[in-house]
Amino acid sequence: MKTKVWLVVAALLVFTACEQTPKPAPKSVETDAQPATDPAPQESPTSAPASNCAPLDELAAMDNRKPVPLQPMMAWHQKQNMMEHLVAIQKITDRLAKDDWEAVAKASAMIESSPQMQQMCQHMGAGAEGFTELALEFHKRADKIGEAAKAKDKKAALAATSHTIEACTSCHATYRQEVVDAATWQARTGSDHDPSQMHHGH
Ligand code: HEC
Repeated sequence: MKTKVWLVVAALLVFTACEQTPKPAPKSVETDAQPATDPAPQESPTSAPASNCAPLDELAAMDNRKPVPLQPMMAWHQKQNMMEHLVAIQKITDRLAKDDWEAVAKASAMIESSPQMQQMCQHMGAGAEGFTELALEFHKRADKIGEAAKAKDKKAALAATSHTIEACTSCHATYRQEVVDAATWQARTGSDHDPSQMHHGH
């Protein structure tokens, strides 16, 4: 039963994903300017919009990672978080090379666990099973970098950094973004929360 519902949702997505492309008026409302017997002018307007979706469909067919449904603003927010994560890792390794332990801890704090992180991860992963768990595990691994920095233990700090990056790569190997509209997001997550509210105060 549940599977059936998902199939319907998936089928709807396939259709709605391409609806942003302006479509020519249905033939039934066309005037007699074009005789219905002439096949050439009827075919060109319908095939042109479809080709705009083809590259995205092609990509989706190749990328068999699990989709994480996100509304556009959430997807952008996630990408910004990700770029910050990479900056954090870069800073951690740079400060480690300099034995600047305070700065290692400061950089690590950018990706360590916090109530806000937890809330964000739960929100982002609402429509993708297992995503939030992986995300929280990632932040937990990063906590160990800060702990090692406080102990000025370079070996432990490097091991914790590697362990953390492994959480990045395993999530990337498993999940991809799927940008959807608000109604689809609510249907897929069973949530009526407005994600735009998440961005106030950032
Ligand atoms: C729990 C899952 C998860 C974890 C953990 C995670 N990421 Fe990501 N990351 C994603 C997803 C999903 C995307 C979007 C992929 C896509 O475009 O479909 C992404 C995209 C990115 C991008 C591309 C951003 C862009 O501009 O398109 C970067 C860079 C990135 N992640 C860095 C990192 C780094 C560095 C870490 C660890 C320190 C990390 N991520 C941890 C899920 C994760």
